[in-house]
Amino acid sequence: MKLNIALLAGDGIGPEVIDQAVKVSNAVAAKFGHEIAWTSGLTGAAAIDAVGEPYPDSTHEICMAADAVLFGAIGHPRFDNDPTAKVRPEQGLLKMRKALGLYANVRPTFTFPSLIDNSPLKRERIEGTDLIILRELTGGIYFGARGRSEDGNTAYDTCTYTKDEVTRLAKLGFELAMTRGKKLCCVDKANVLETSRLWRQTVQAMEKDYPEVTVSYEFVDAVAMRLVQWPNSYDVLITENLFGDILTDEASVISGSMGLMPSASKGVHTSLYEPIHGSYPQAAGKDIANPLATVLSAAMMFEDAFGLTEEAEAIRVVVNKSLADGIVTEDLAGKNKAYKTSEVGDWLAENL
Ligand code: IPM
Ligand code: MN
Repeated sequence: MKLNIALLAGDGIGPEVIDQAVKVSNAVAAKFGHEIAWTSGLTGAAAIDAVGEPYPDSTHEICMAADAVLFGAIGHPRFDNDPTAKVRPEQGLLKMRKALGLYANVRPTFTFPSLIDNSPLKRERIEGTDLIILRELTGGIYFGARGRSEDGNTAYDTCTYTKDEVTRLAKLGFELAMTRGKKLCCVDKANVLETSRLWRQTVQAMEKDYPEVTVSYEFVDAVAMRLVQWPNSYDVLITENLFGDILTDEASVISGSMGLMPSASKGVHTSLYEPIHGSYPQAAGKDIANPLATVLSAAMMFEDAFGLTEEAEAIRVVVNKSLADGIVTEDLAGKNKAYKTSEVGDWLAENL
């Protein structure tokens, strides 16, 4: 099979972790007789420096022409402390999500047998956790009307959802639940927010089409608590953009390191695969960042975008082997030897 993949390394540790995912993907392709054509595009601060904007048209064209997009990370501290900056790397990410129609962000949380005790949460709480947060990604407060009063002392951001936006996300949620534990939790704040009441009403009306799925409706504040209390009681959770942003960071703690969790964003035009961690600028260029979230994102890409399940499984198997054998970066090494980012990538590619 010929795979056309757009490669957006982005900022910070992005290029380093992407390099490892490319090594591993090429090794899988060689093993299973596929050919990958990678096309690189600029995003984030790197793109602002080169061409003045964080998601240039040239990058958009590369993404539209590809079968899938593999993405590193975006963000640079020099913008974070400057609230007056006119262009920000994150705008590139939001523009890209909107332009590619990436409306559904799939963020799994699971545990690795060999890393259970790396989590700050107790073993008995997290053992068996295997949940997916399905986050709406192109609507809500991230994309609503916003502004400031003339004197600059009042600011507003608005949250808007349409029934269609909720329906397409919820549909994916129901379908995903059908392939797994058949449990769906709709996370909202319907006791306060009108958009949440629309979510609840829309999902309730869909229940009859999926009689096998058990649906629960829970308020986001309660879910924030239960996620760390009883994460293994959840299967698929669906939620709006901002709630999903917050809950997925929280959920990543369960697995023991932010450097481990992959994600997929499914869209109208294409799909994109990226680690859930950010650009980790403190580690940029040091060859110390954990590449596994990006490598596992590549596995999700093989499976979801190309239907190559065995290839994806081969990646997951070698990742688990590296964890069991202690071929890990400093975030997981504890008192043992910490391997470099590139060494982990080499080891994975060689041991596939
Ligand atoms: C994420 C990130 C982004 C978001 C930022 C960088 C705009 O936190 O992908 O979760 O808030 O969506
Ligand atoms: Mn986030």
